[in-house]
Formats: sequence, C-alpha cells, structure tokens
Amino acid sequence: MTEVLDRLAAHRLVPVVVLDEARDAGPLADALVAGGLPVAEVTFRTAAAADAIRAIADRGGDVLVGAGTVVTPAQVDEAVAAGARYLVSPGTSRAVVERAQEHGVAVLPGAVTATEVQAALELGLGTVKFFPAGTSGGSAAIAALAAPFSGVRFVPTGGVGPGNLDQYLALPAVAAVGGSWMVPRDRVRAGDLDGVRSLVADAVALATRLRP
Ligand code: 3PG
Repeated sequence: MTEVLDRLAAHRLVPVVVLDEARDAGPLADALVAGGLPVAEVTFRTAAAADAIRAIADRGGDVLVGAGTVVTPAQVDEAVAAGARYLVSPGTSRAVVERAQEHGVAVLPGAVTATEVQAALELGLGTVKFFPAGTSGGSAAIAALAAPFSGVRFVPTGGVGPGNLDQYLALPAVAAVGGSWMVPRDRVRAGDLDGVRSLVADAVALATRLRP
C-alpha cells in the first residue's frame, strides 16, 4: 500500500479520467505512457469504469491504475476485482475505507477539514485527497491543516490546473496533485489522443520544473 502511494508521490500528478467507453482505455493508457505520466485514476462516474480499469490493468503494469469516485463498498470490490491498485473517494466513508483495507489496497478518502482529517487518521490513514481543493481554501487551507497534522500528506484535486499547480506543489505536505485538465473527457471521447499526450507531456514538464 505504501509503495503505491510512494509511486503516486514520485509522479506528483494523478490524471483524473472519465471514460465513456471502455474501448478508449487502451489508447488513453498509450497516451499517458507516451506523455511520461503512466498513472490513471479512472472514476466510477460512468458504467465503463470497471471494464476500463481492467483493460489498463491487463496491460501488465505499465500504468499505475486506480479507481476514483469510489463511494460504496460494492464499488471497492468491483474496482479491486478489475485490478485497481488504489482507490480514491470524494469524502471519508468508514465503510469504504474499511473494505479497501480488507482488500489490502491503498485508499485516499477526501478530507478538507480538521475533523475529516482526524477521522482519516483514526482509520489508520496518513494520506488524504483534499477535495474539492479550489473551493475548500486551496493551498492556504492545506498549509493551515499541515501545521497540526504534520505527518499527513494531501492530494489536492478539484480546480487544479497549470495556472495554480505551483501553489500546491510548493507545499511539503502535498504528495501529488490530481486533476482532469490533462485528460479532458471530450478529447478522449473524440479520439484526440495526440492532444491528450501533448497535455500530459506539458503537465509533466511543468511539474518537473516546479520540483523543489
Ligand atoms: C475529481 O474527481 O477528482 C475532480 O472532479 C477532478 O477535478 P477537476 O476536474 O477540477 O480537475
């Protein structure tokens, strides 16, 4: 579990993907690899999610694939069965976290308040998704939470993009930043994978420049 979180932290970016068709998963994975960011959080916002995760996992490990928008224990089971290596949830649900822990799979629940961070800590977690980052105080809120919760690492997501990435990646408490800006749903759906590859490469270059 720690190894997966360390790999996410090493990449510093987590592309948040919405796939309308599972058949788009392979070409998207190719674009992520070609762009230098072999990571995908495939969200359970479409019926294609589990099949898409399976298609990426079946490639044999070239892309670190996880499931996002996991809000029920049943989705935890579905995601893990499909091959998800980590699970991301918009909020902190004890049922979701405990089911993930039963599977021995890393889980990142959403937490944006001190109470929510404490709830995650009580569940044995040290890394949380800070969602929705932009409307929850942004980088200033993370810096404030990091003072009392010095061991906690945050993955801000929601409203993050090239224009404010620097504010988040500058914080030692930020493990990685999530976002959909480098994998726009409409571009994937339209088959513009070269455009996606280019956005991914730009995001990687920016994150590399911002590396402390
Ligand atoms: C998520 O599920 O993590 C967010 O919806 C992604 O937010 P963004 O589209 O603003 O990057």
